[in-house]
Amino acid sequence: MQTFDAVVIGAGAAGLFCAGIAGQRGLKVLLIDHADKLAEKIRISGGGRCNFTNREAGPANFLSANPHFCRSALARYTAADFIGLVQRHRIPFHEKHKGQLFCDGASEEIIAMLLRECEQGGVVRWQPCAVHELRRSASGFELDTDRGAVRCLQVVVATGGLSIPKIGASDFGYRIARQFGHRIVETRPALVPLTFDPGAWAPFVPLAGLSLEARVETGSGKSRGEFVEDLLFTHRGLSGPAVLQISTYWQPGTPIRIDLAPSQDLEAVLRTAKNVSRRRLGNELAEILPRRLAETWLAGQPGLAERAMPELRDRDLQALASALERWQLLPSGTEGYRKAEVTAGGVDTGGLSSQTMESRLQPGLYFIGEVVDVTGWLGGYNFQWAWASAAACGRALSERG
Ligand code: FDA
Repeated sequence: MQTFDAVVIGAGAAGLFCAGIAGQRGLKVLLIDHADKLAEKIRISGGGRCNFTNREAGPANFLSANPHFCRSALARYTAADFIGLVQRHRIPFHEKHKGQLFCDGASEEIIAMLLRECEQGGVVRWQPCAVHELRRSASGFELDTDRGAVRCLQVVVATGGLSIPKIGASDFGYRIARQFGHRIVETRPALVPLTFDPGAWAPFVPLAGLSLEARVETGSGKSRGEFVEDLLFTHRGLSGPAVLQISTYWQPGTPIRIDLAPSQDLEAVLRTAKNVSRRRLGNELAEILPRRLAETWLAGQPGLAERAMPELRDRDLQALASALERWQLLPSGTEGYRKAEVTAGGVDTGGLSSQTMESRLQPGLYFIGEVVDVTGWLGGYNFQWAWASAAACGRALSERG
């Protein structure tokens, strides 16, 4: 039976990074992944250019049952640390929007960088290779894999979340966590488009493809989320960065609220127009909102679009402004794991050390990356969590176990 200091299960963002760090510290590391292709999620991320971190990443950009858990790892391995690594590997990158950093070229450059780091650490990689069973042994752990049994002192579970099953996502990490007594915070698709009852959504179907800036909010108190970003109409509901962000905060059965003109005082704009313009409301509103949206919105109130501005009562304008600024909608669901960028929930952080990601219940067992109940906003934050949690773990693994 082959023996290693550490076996890392899952060669995605967190697993590759952790294996490289531990290998370079002199540990004998085996990295196992069941997928045919290496790190597919990194490859498809950021539209093929990998939004690999966010300059502004901090604890406030993450959701978890314990919002403080991510603090230590994020402070000890920062966005600046990862940017330094990318620069040492001479990968050109640029900032796109709100601190989001993307490769100038392809995401594959990040995968190649992580592989080089693993090679420098002498990491052994078995892929594709499935792990069938993990059990405790007298001196550590034993794993049954497609390539035979393996013995090791420490096991790192880096199997990610449930999103995009067709490229290798599995519930393996949660099953291992339960096997060793860990609690799982209920998992749900996040950073995902929201859907609506087909009947209620029918008037908006023709708007599919239309995008505009909006403020979207949901929840209240500590669980309230609010984002001003682009919103995209789809055939089944809403998507775009604003809605993907809010989906992580959204709880089934609760409404979302949308301001369709977040950078204007709509009532004031309409009142001014009433005083200076003789045009029809439909044309006036089409100056403020995309024309197709203005037409669809007014179509629900027969005759209103044709009325000339001076004829409109102030209270009609006030009602219109208020409806557009406080559009309340009840999503019926989400597009699910098939379309979700991440999985919210996961291994309960109460059972893990925030310093090392080691299980408090089972010494030598570690959980890193998306499998843990830490979910980042859209914009490079989820990769930063993968790097930071992997670094915390990779630096803590030892040769003795
Ligand atoms: P990750 O999913 O990367 O890796 C898990 C690995 O474990 C996989 O290789 C899988 O095959 C393997 N595995 C699973 N089960 C196994 C088993 N039973 N046995 C062996 N191996 C197993 N984030 C971001 O910050 N910026 C971005 O631009 C994007 N863009 C993006 C686009 C799309 C389409 C998606 C789906 C996701 C993103 N993300 C993102 C999210 C980001 O990809 C994600 O949070 C990280 O990849 C998580 O890293 P992990 O290493 O935890 O899991």
